[in-house]
Amino acid sequence: MELAEKIKKLKKKRNAVILAHNYQLPEVQDIADFAGDSLGLSIEAAKTDADIIVFCGVYFMAETAKIISPEKTVLIPDKDAGCPMADMINADQLRALKAQHPSAKVVCYVNSTAEVKAECDLCCTSGNAIKMIRDVLKDEKEIIFVPDQHLADYVSEVTGKDLIIWKGFCPTHVKILPEHIAEQKRLHPEAEVIAHPECPRPVRALADKILSTEGMCRYVKETKTKEFIVATELGIIHRLKKENPGKVFYPGSRHAICPNMKRISLEKILWSLEDLTYEVKVPEDTIIRARTCIDRMLKYA
Ligand code: 13P
Ligand code: SF4
Repeated sequence: MELAEKIKKLKKKRNAVILAHNYQLPEVQDIADFAGDSLGLSIEAAKTDADIIVFCGVYFMAETAKIISPEKTVLIPDKDAGCPMADMINADQLRALKAQHPSAKVVCYVNSTAEVKAECDLCCTSGNAIKMIRDVLKDEKEIIFVPDQHLADYVSEVTGKDLIIWKGFCPTHVKILPEHIAEQKRLHPEAEVIAHPECPRPVRALADKILSTEGMCRYVKETKTKEFIVATELGIIHRLKKENPGKVFYPGSRHAICPNMKRISLEKILWSLEDLTYEVKVPEDTIIRARTCIDRMLKYA
């Protein structure tokens, strides 16, 4: 309680805004001005008039906020909160792949580094990938998709597009196994399965709906269904419960915890506001080159 009060006071004094991803710890989500998915957080970063953004998520998300709002100070309370999937491809590797397919359009999932985004034509999130590929790239013959093989496989499945796929993956989502979901379905036969597109195909095949984290929050509110098996990182269950008190949520797998998302605590948020740490910096030329594909992503909100 005391920590939360200190954070609120200092946030006001510094004209700061706190953005938190849906996978953050419950107390972090609760102190945030806005909780959402990668797309929603990018939109908030674009429209805030705060001087400082305290980004409670992983590094690529804070970097994206910096690219969108270069004039603002963007802080991440733990500089080691990275996304292993984003680090599965670097700019050199992407340039080498592009050299093999010189006429291909290049799409990156937002879970990628700023230097990788700077090499791409389009950036998408799990919330708008299908729409973007269908609309913007419908006539393209060759499309490179990096770094998530499972999101790429899902996009390819739905759009019928053949993609050149980088073999990255989310170490948290691949821990959700079909047998975990099957067991939960056996225990809760009335429940609907909602899964994130970062889940491998055998898990997606058991799902009723494939949704981004914000898509899950929206869907659960709208539908009459009362019970859900949630196949994504477990942090989201806090928000789902809070927004839907009459509904019940079962973890798709108890192993689905992203250690990087959990690095951020109230203490670290307070230190971040006190010491203005850790400032996220992106070289100016990378900002300019990455901005085009991020602007396209924001248009497909
Ligand atoms: P969302 O954009 O759906 O919130 O997903 C981000 C992420 O890191 C999923 O692992
Ligand atoms: Fe990256 Fe996976 Fe963690 Fe999302 S859940 S931040 S994709 S490691």
